[in-house]
Amino acid sequence: MELANLAKCLLLGLIILGTQIHGNKGCFEAERLALLNFKKFVVSDGADADHLLSSWVDDSMSDCCKWERVTCNSTTSHMIELFLNNTRQHDIDSESLFDGENIWFIKLSMFQQLKELRNLNLSYNEIGGFIDYDEGFERLSELKKLETLDLSYNWFNNSILSSLGALTSLKSLILSWNNMRGSFPSKELNSLKNLKILDISVNGFNGSLSLEGFERLEDLDISYNQFDKSILSSLGALTLLRTLKIGWNDMEGSFPVQELNNLKNLEILDISYNGFNGSLSLEGNFISHLICYFYW
Ligand SMILES: *[C@@H]1O[C@H](CO)[C@@H](O)[C@H](O)[C@H]1NC(C)=O
Ligand SMILES: *[C@@H]1O[C@H](CO)[C@@H](O)[C@H](O)[C@H]1NC(C)=O
Ligand SMILES: *[C@@H]1O[C@H](CO)[C@@H](O)[C@H](O)[C@H]1NC(C)=O
Ligand SMILES: *[C@@H]1O[C@H](CO)[C@@H](O)[C@H](O)[C@H]1NC(C)=O
Ligand SMILES: *[C@@H]1O[C@H](CO)[C@@H](O)[C@H](O)[C@H]1NC(C)=O
Repeated sequence: MELANLAKCLLLGLIILGTQIHGNKGCFEAERLALLNFKKFVVSDGADADHLLSSWVDDSMSDCCKWERVTCNSTTSHMIELFLNNTRQHDIDSESLFDGENIWFIKLSMFQQLKELRNLNLSYNEIGGFIDYDEGFERLSELKKLETLDLSYNWFNNSILSSLGALTSLKSLILSWNNMRGSFPSKELNSLKNLKILDISVNGFNGSLSLEGFERLEDLDISYNQFDKSILSSLGALTLLRTLKIGWNDMEGSFPVQELNNLKNLEILDISYNGFNGSLSLEGNFISHLICYFYW
């Protein structure tokens, strides 16, 4: 009897051990398939399939934790970082990245299997959008550990914004150099309670910018948009801000220093290339830590 129990115990132990060690290929099958799925989009439209993501091979013995642009946690073998920036390897200094000639679309739901992902970089890809907005975004909420999402240098428009609110663990959201315009939909994103870094620079945003619910922001970049001076009063509530960049917008007249008086942690303020005039008298409290600002 006792021997039988011992045998059961051993067997159970082996089964548990067996499910944790997944062969000798290291990575998880679902994560491997997700990457292969992404590669299909990368090499579509005549992109050079032979040299792009060449270590990502469709071979079940291949350890996808060792593939280029992938970082796994060495204990769990789950993917934690994906550097999918510039996957088509454009010359990023050339003009062609911005001519809109090679826009492509991806399926967002393919990332849903990467449940341990912390850092996803999709910048410099000329991606025009997602082909599965509705279902894709719903499933994005399964990325419960994602802290950094860089979507810069693509052709995304505002329609992706409403659903990024599902990524509640995000600390850093980079949306610069995209095709977004009109007013910034703050309400749809204020579920991002952990957000510390928000970069919406180089888009066409204008109108009001109420950032209620974004009080944890430490680093805000709204440069190169069409905001006017009226937005500054709402920024005064972001008291943890250390960096504020508002250059290259449509602000004019005197600079309303008093609106930013509460920003006692501010270290970097960039207000350059607006239409500000007059002298800048830095009297308020907010300059106590200020180490650097640019005027014109
Ligand atoms: C890897 O995963 C283990 C277990 O979940 C965790 O304790 C550790 O901090 C992780 N390491 C990294 C580098 O993420
Ligand atoms: C992707 O970005 C990382 C930094 O996040 C950089 O080290 C790497 O060189 C970039 N890869 C390409 C192909 O641009
Ligand atoms: C993403 O990759 C780009 C291009 O290589 C790099 O400049 C940027 O810093 C990366 N983003 C993050 C958040 O590391
Ligand atoms: C945003 O881009 C998607 C994909 O290209 C397109 O279907 C949609 O009409 C665009 N929406 C706006 C408001 O431009
Ligand atoms: C904002 O820009 C849009 C075009 O993108 C324009 O239709 C609208 O009138 C602008 N609103 C303001 C307040 O400037």
